[in-house]
Amino acid sequence: MKVLAIVVAAGRGNRAGFGLAKQYVPLSGRPLIAWAIEPFCEHAGIEAVLPVIHADDRSLFSAAVPDHPKLLPATIGGDTRQASVLLGLEAAERSGFDIVLVHDGARPFVTPQIIDRAIDAGRSGAAVPAIPVTDSLINTRGSERLSTIAREDVKAVQTPQAFLYDALLRAHRLAASAGVSCTDDGAVAAHAGLRVEVFEGDAGNMKLTTANDFETAEMRIAGTLGDVRIGNGFDVHAFGEGDHVMLCGVRVPHERGLIGHSDADVGLHALTDAILGALAEGDIGHHFPPSDPQWRGAASHIFLAEAVRRVKARGGIIANLDLTILGEAPKVGPWRDQMRETVGAIAGLGADRIGIKATTTEALGFIGRREGLAAQATATIRLPFVDRTER
Ligand code: CTP
Ligand code: MG
Repeated sequence: MKVLAIVVAAGRGNRAGFGLAKQYVPLSGRPLIAWAIEPFCEHAGIEAVLPVIHADDRSLFSAAVPDHPKLLPATIGGDTRQASVLLGLEAAERSGFDIVLVHDGARPFVTPQIIDRAIDAGRSGAAVPAIPVTDSLINTRGSERLSTIAREDVKAVQTPQAFLYDALLRAHRLAASAGVSCTDDGAVAAHAGLRVEVFEGDAGNMKLTTANDFETAEMRIAGTLGDVRIGNGFDVHAFGEGDHVMLCGVRVPHERGLIGHSDADVGLHALTDAILGALAEGDIGHHFPPSDPQWRGAASHIFLAEAVRRVKARGGIIANLDLTILGEAPKVGPWRDQMRETVGAIAGLGADRIGIKATTTEALGFIGRREGLAAQATATIRLPFVDRTER
C-alpha cells in the first residue's frame, strides 16, 4: 500500500488577515505549514508528502519547511482549495500511489494516531475524520422563527481525509467538469457517488482560520508543552595534522585539524549532548559508540539530527540552542552566521534560536596552549507533560 499525503497550502489566508499568508506565520517559532507537514514526513505509513503552494510563495515555502527525504517538490495550486487538491492529485497521478490523504496546511496539530486512523479508513475508498459538535446549532437563513438543528445529526469534518487515489482523482475531475464546488474532498467524493465513511477525528486537530485561532494555538502549545527542560553538553578534541576544522557543520580553514573518531566537530557534539541531556536519554557515545566502525569519519550532523528526532518522537520541540566554543584560534566571528544557519537547518529551527559564541581562555591551560578546542552547549526543550508517544 503506497500512501501519499497531499498538504494543501495555496490559500491566501484572508480571514487571518496577517498580510503574510497564514501558513507562513510562526506558531511557537515555527511556521504553521512546517507543523502541518512534519507529522506526515515522520509517519512510517506515509511514503511521500506533496505540498501544494501558491506561485508567489516558493521562497517562503523553502525557507519554512526543512528538506526531508519524503518531501516531494511543491506543486503550484489553484484559485480554490478544490482546484489545489486536483492539481496535487494530477501532479502525482502516475506515481503508483494506492491511497491519498489530503490535509489542510492550516492544521498544525495532526497526530500520528489520526494519520493511522486515516490510512486504515482510506482503504474503504473514501473517509473523513469528524468530531461531535458540542454547541447548539441554529439556522440563521430565511425563516422568521429561530430553527435549531439537531446536534446529534451533525458532525464537524476535519482533515486528513483519506481516499483510494484513483477514486478521488476521478471524483475531482467529475466535480471540476460539472462546475460543482465543495469545501472538502469528502463532499467531492460524495458528489461522485462514492460512499464516504466517517472516522474519529480529534478535537485538538483545529484549523487555524482567524488571528484569534493563532492565539488559541499558542496557548495550546504553551499548555501542552509545559514540561520545560534544560540540558548541557561539553566536548573536547585535540588538534592534529590538517588544514581545516569542522565547527557547527561548517568547514573552517585552519593550520591544524581536529583529531576524532568522527569529523571531530566539537560544536555539534556538545549540542547533541545538550539535547540528549535535556531528554535524559544518555549521551552521544551511548547512541553512537566510538567502537562502532560505521561512525568513523562520520559527519556530525547525523548525531545532532538524531537528538532532534528524539525530541520530536517525544512530541516535543526545541526552544533554543546555545553554544560557546573555547579556543585561541580559529576565529569564530566570521563564520558565526553560517554556523547558526547550518545548526538551524539541522535542528529545524530559525537562526534566531541558535546562539553561537566563542571565547579564548586567556592563553591558560590546554586550550590556551592551542592543544585543542572545547565547546559547551545548553539546550532548552519543551515536552508534553503527558507522554503519549510509544518509544
Ligand atoms: N487552500 C489551497 N488553495 C486555495 C485555497 C485554500 O490550497 N486556493 C488551502 C489553504 O492554504 C489551507 C486549506 O486549503 O491550508 C484550507 O483553507 P482555508 O483555511 O480557507 O485557508 P485560506 O483559503 O488560505 O484562508 P481564507 O479562506 O481565510 O483566505
Ligand atoms: Mg479559504
